[in-house]
Amino acid sequence: MIVLARKKFYITTPIYYVNDVPHIGHAYTTIAADVIARWHRLKGEDVFFLTGTDEHGEKIQQAAEKAGKEPKKFCDEIAKKFKDAWKILNISYNHFIRTTDKYHVKAVINALQTLYKNGYIYKGKYQGLYCVGCEKYLTESELIDGKCPLHLKEPQFLSEDSYFFTLSKFHTVLLNKIEKDEIVIKPEARKNEIISFLQNNKLEDISISRSKVKWGIKLPWDESHTCYVWIDAFLNYVTGIGWPNKKFERYWPADLHLIGKDILRVHATIWPAELLAVGLKVPKQIFAHGYFTIKGQKMSKSLGNVVDPVELSKKYSVDAVRYFLIREFPFGEDGDFSEEALINRINGELVADLGNLIYRVLTLAERYKGRIKGKPELDKILDISLIDKHMENLELQDALGAIWEFVRNTNKYINEKQVWKLEGEELSNALYNLLEACRIISILISPFLPETSEKINKQLGIKAGKLKDCKFRKFTGRIKKGEYLFKKVVKM
Ligand code: MSP
Repeated sequence: MIVLARKKFYITTPIYYVNDVPHIGHAYTTIAADVIARWHRLKGEDVFFLTGTDEHGEKIQQAAEKAGKEPKKFCDEIAKKFKDAWKILNISYNHFIRTTDKYHVKAVINALQTLYKNGYIYKGKYQGLYCVGCEKYLTESELIDGKCPLHLKEPQFLSEDSYFFTLSKFHTVLLNKIEKDEIVIKPEARKNEIISFLQNNKLEDISISRSKVKWGIKLPWDESHTCYVWIDAFLNYVTGIGWPNKKFERYWPADLHLIGKDILRVHATIWPAELLAVGLKVPKQIFAHGYFTIKGQKMSKSLGNVVDPVELSKKYSVDAVRYFLIREFPFGEDGDFSEEALINRINGELVADLGNLIYRVLTLAERYKGRIKGKPELDKILDISLIDKHMENLELQDALGAIWEFVRNTNKYINEKQVWKLEGEELSNALYNLLEACRIISILISPFLPETSEKINKQLGIKAGKLKDCKFRKFTGRIKKGEYLFKKVVKM
């Protein structure tokens, strides 16, 4: 007998800086990654989903000083907040990496040593404008009114001895790999941006050490310098699955690095160059999603409009927040967040479509005392391969849209058939179709709305299914109608 190895799927999120607590932007990437990871598990794949926190460097050092705390203790506290938030938001990561974890630090030292030994590091002097918010040097042309366009602060002028990484050596190979889709960059428009950047600019060597920053990993050949935070941080994607231990080969290269558009350029240049210099394969795919504003404004502490995903979930339920974030914005494009839009989705789609459907079907089914059997009819309006295609193309909004089409059409079936008026075989047949549709809907929504799917399974008296179970077959559940799935939100 030939046993085929299960297909692997390795997905990562950015590791978030611990200078601040988790906000809705971090939650967006993490929820999207969770939905994708759960979808691949539903397909029976061997999924590894990695997330975590980025804990070294000047930005964190300054934040700890401001809080009057020793950096490690400060990091411990904030990292816990991320873990707690992900627990509440039902994030099914396989591992949570912290860059202060001992195995990571050890592996980074190993990687630095290899880079040094392989001749990719040299000593020089750096002079330039450094933005602590970005944790990177900026060029004059990147500034707007002398300020960093992202952090709206003037960068500091730094001049120091530094070690450099020969990024320039990788210019051509990176451009080739991106053009040939050996590193797939998505969406297409973002890929073109990176290609045109590489065609019009020569990649320059980058400074990878700081002598004035104490909170970081020391360079093994010169301990008076600490490693540049991005060089350290990128390696999480391999150390998080065990590198340099050979077991990491099960999952590497990553199938998908999911990130926000703000950090695409570094992911498409420094990261693959670092991998090539260490002698590792480049990632298969990088997807950069859009950024969202809050009621049209940039989210920022100074504007006081930072949205806390945990508070939002407490107010409206975790699944409502998950649903909204995926359904509201085309994945890859920018969007705008507002509570009004969230409420509209809850009332119009979760309550009126899904909640209503489950309640109606279970009410009708509970009333019926005979054996439920029939012939599939609703299968004609369900296209699983289309939903899967959307998921594979990372068109998350469209996938959820296609599932919702099925939810709405199932509701329509009740109305058109006037199921409440049917009797005997006709009623049995309609109930069979409706219960099987609800069972399948529960499977399809499980990556997006895991808690709701569990509630539906309980009411239908069935176990959680896989994607291969999304076919109309015999209904074998034991029905027990429960509470309404979602509550209507009354606008004040
Ligand atoms: N630590 C680096 C990443 C290192 S990965 C090797 C970092 N951290 S961060 O805390 O600033 O997180 C940035 C990421 O948070 C973005 O790439 C994006 O995934 C997410 N978002 C932050 N604000 C966001 C919005 N306003 N909208 C959407 N996503 C947002 O950069």
